Amino acid sequence: MNTPASLTEPSSDRRLMDSIYRRQRHIYDLSRRYYLLGRDRLVAELKPPAGSSVLEIGCGTGRNLIAAAALYPQARLFGLDLSEEMLKTARAALARHGLSHAVAIAAADAASFEPLPLFGVPVFDRIYFSYTLSMIPAWERAIAHAWKHVAPGGQLLVVDFGQSEALPPPFRAVLWWWLDKFHVTPRAALHDVLAGMARPERAHLGFAPLYGGYACYAVLTRPAAADPRPAPDGPGTFAPFAAR
Ligand SMILES: C[S@@+](CC[C@H](N)C(=O)[O-])C[C@H]1O[C@@H](n2cnc3c(N)ncnc32)[C@H](O)[C@@H]1O
Repeated sequence: MNTPASLTEPSSDRRLMDSIYRRQRHIYDLSRRYYLLGRDRLVAELKPPAGSSVLEIGCGTGRNLIAAAALYPQARLFGLDLSEEMLKTARAALARHGLSHAVAIAAADAASFEPLPLFGVPVFDRIYFSYTLSMIPAWERAIAHAWKHVAPGGQLLVVDFGQSEALPPPFRAVLWWWLDKFHVTPRAALHDVLAGMARPERAHLGFAPLYGGYACYAVLTRPAAADPRPAPDGPGTFAPFAAR
């Protein structure tokens, strides 16, 4: 029986990511080091309990997973990415660090991945997006899909480009013009979408702009046990982090 082309041919999103990263992946870690700010903070604050599971969605070259493996040798680490090109670099980097068996990575779409067949794990204690939501057209679907796979008591973390609200308007204009060239769109509605996800479960949302809003950082924590009280009407529980 012939397999339908839609199941074998890469999606247009994947073709786009592969075309962006086919060459970029060779200079990615060096060049992004200076402008993907807040990634080290996110990795440092993951703090997964020993034996727990951590998933990076849009893991790219594996840079964050390698940093997480050094900090949390007792956690089980997973990564997925739409781009096979990026995964080639991630596999090579993991092998160089002796982590090929410690970190499992796979090709999948953030909006539709199925963790059980992919990794043999139904839910994760930590799931994070690092500068990935700004590149996913269906980012609201992707973040809602990720939230479904966070374990009770677990966390969803995001670091990404922010609204640059405290930066000079000309700087923001040039930055956004340049980001657009790489198909990157800072998500103005990120806070409200996360708040909408938090409310029904009385989950705790921490949200902060970093570096004058150049970046933003969010942590959504699922309660360990379901709260039987009806969901609040208001905006939920928010704790602004210290801005940096
Ligand atoms: C800017 S890179 C960030 C890589 C890494 N998270 C980091 O912090 O360096 C964005 C990554 O998201 C991946 N990506 C884009 N759309 C995706 C999707 N729909 N599902 C999974 N990954 C996706 C890209 O292939 C790319 O590797």
